[in-house]
Amino acid sequence: RGTLGSSSETLGFNSIPGSKTDAVVVPEGYNARVLAPWGTPLNNTAQAFKADGTNSASDQENAVGMHHDGMHFFPIDGSSTDGLLVINHEYIDANALHPDGPTIDPVTELRTSAEEIRKEINAHGVCVVRVQLVNGEWQVVENDPLNRRFTHATEMDIAGPLRNSPVLQTRYSPAGDVTRGTSNNCGNGATPWGTYLTCEENWPGYFMNSASSRPADQDRLGLPDDGTRYGWHHLAGDPSEVDQEFARFDNTPTGASALEDYRNEANGFGYTVEIDPYNPTAKAVKRTALGRFRQESRSFGPLVEGEPVVSYAGHDAQFEYIYKFVSDALWTAADANPADRLATGAKYMDAGTLYVARFNADGTGDWLPLTLDSVTTDGQTLGSLFATQADIILNTPGAADAVGATPMDRPEWVAVDPINGTVYFTLTNNTDREEPNSPNPRIQNEFGHIVRWNEDGVDRFNWDIFIFGSPADGDADTNRSGLTDANQFASPDGLIFDPRGIMWIQTDNGADAVTEETNDQMLAVIPSKLRDGNNDQRVVDSSNQSEVRRFFVGPNGCEVTGLAYTPDYTTFFVNIQHPGNWPFSDNAAEVTPEGVTVRPRAATVVVRRNDGGPIGV
Ligand code: FEO
Ligand code: CA
Ligand code: CA
Ligand code: CA
Repeated sequence: RGTLGSSSETLGFNSIPGSKTDAVVVPEGYNARVLAPWGTPLNNTAQAFKADGTNSASDQENAVGMHHDGMHFFPIDGSSTDGLLVINHEYIDANALHPDGPTIDPVTELRTSAEEIRKEINAHGVCVVRVQLVNGEWQVVENDPLNRRFTHATEMDIAGPLRNSPVLQTRYSPAGDVTRGTSNNCGNGATPWGTYLTCEENWPGYFMNSASSRPADQDRLGLPDDGTRYGWHHLAGDPSEVDQEFARFDNTPTGASALEDYRNEANGFGYTVEIDPYNPTAKAVKRTALGRFRQESRSFGPLVEGEPVVSYAGHDAQFEYIYKFVSDALWTAADANPADRLATGAKYMDAGTLYVARFNADGTGDWLPLTLDSVTTDGQTLGSLFATQADIILNTPGAADAVGATPMDRPEWVAVDPINGTVYFTLTNNTDREEPNSPNPRIQNEFGHIVRWNEDGVDRFNWDIFIFGSPADGDADTNRSGLTDANQFASPDGLIFDPRGIMWIQTDNGADAVTEETNDQMLAVIPSKLRDGNNDQRVVDSSNQSEVRRFFVGPNGCEVTGLAYTPDYTTFFVNIQHPGNWPFSDNAAEVTPEGVTVRPRAATVVVRRNDGGPIGV
């Protein structure tokens, strides 16, 4: 599949040293500036960001959200100086969001402020923000008609097998065709037809069900039984209303049916969600055919005229799986620029086959379909366990268990090499692994690794491990890729190929042996140039790994995640999530009112070359 060959590019920067400073560090000849930090107004409804935490829930609904993550740049008319940045806002720091943290009743220990909870709901989700390069500086275009927020309360369509399913019926949507909000939007994707994909990761923690007998999917996916992440269920809302405002987060059945309680609310979460950033009135659509799990990111395989459209996504939790979706519809290049983008999304993402990966010890792999006639490890079929395809989707990992998928070390982002179609997957870490398996060979995997494969037809693949994270001074079993001070890293997470064939690796590291040496970072490598003369993809050569170069180091306490670029590669956008103090701690007088406590603010960083040239080469 795809053509063998290698990128014609060469990395044009030297690896930078690790850094432990409260600033972004980039190579000589580059500069980095902050753009669109949390709280930046998108329109006149929002008041300017207040460093004392007193912005309202309404302000937050009309401003950039918190904890930036996956991101994509959508050019306006192909421009590299004017476009839409679409940014995921994964979760919140409630202590920074409010003046003195969340208000809690000291006796009942319950949340007391509906306004605070609404602000938290509105700080989650996705933002679409128009940005332009003006006089050499990227700026947010306030009040642009395309600026938009999607929050944990925004109405979204359900598409695919679960649309109108009984398990999607709620008081809010008796027909089961819409749900409210998107949550824990971590990694992302961009479709070949010009839309954005946002992936719902740790959504189970926002809901609970304390009943002693619960649906299998809730146990398998880890819905809590005794509380929710931020306590949003503490305030139910107006009891005279049929649909109380916050009661939906407690899914414990209390009535006779889904129309009398909130039992099905969590069933609207766990999906890849499609957004058309160019259409400010189009609703977001949850594409249920792609599976339901803790989704991290989604990437597409090579497009071939007349063949199905293939995409990949992983379930980020310990011992979870890697999935692939193959469309029923066959790709036609006319769909690269369609009149109706979401109709094209429906064409390629609402009907098809969902597969889960089984990695074999001999370097081969099998894609196991998750359909009613799929054979389970005990010789039955999924049809003996599930009544419908919708039931399989609802409990995707439960179906994957039954067919014998391979448990991985926390699958995070997936990226596909545009030069040859090789698929790369970050496996960030798994400190609870006691039994190694072939694609996850290190027990108590503290530093993570990157696995890759080539497709071999529709249901087979050939895999190897591309690189192991490690401290430079790790022993031979730990530092299996021969990393040095110039490129030691741990916990690979964000992973993005740009179309030149450069792979960008971002880290979210909690392993002391590496965090003592450097903050989280972004490294670059051109994998298609690392093969031997026979283009043998199955060569793992630790000497190759010297070609992995550190490009970017983030400020203290942060994670580096999310990358977007302009079509001409002269601007890169990189997200800084959960910084400790940054970005305004070193120059507070310049940016914040005097005498006001500085709040850490997740933000996008704009990276450019001083000479305006393309980045990385
Ligand atoms: Fe939100 Fe798996 O990182
Ligand atoms: Ca991540
Ligand atoms: Ca992570
Ligand atoms: Ca994160």
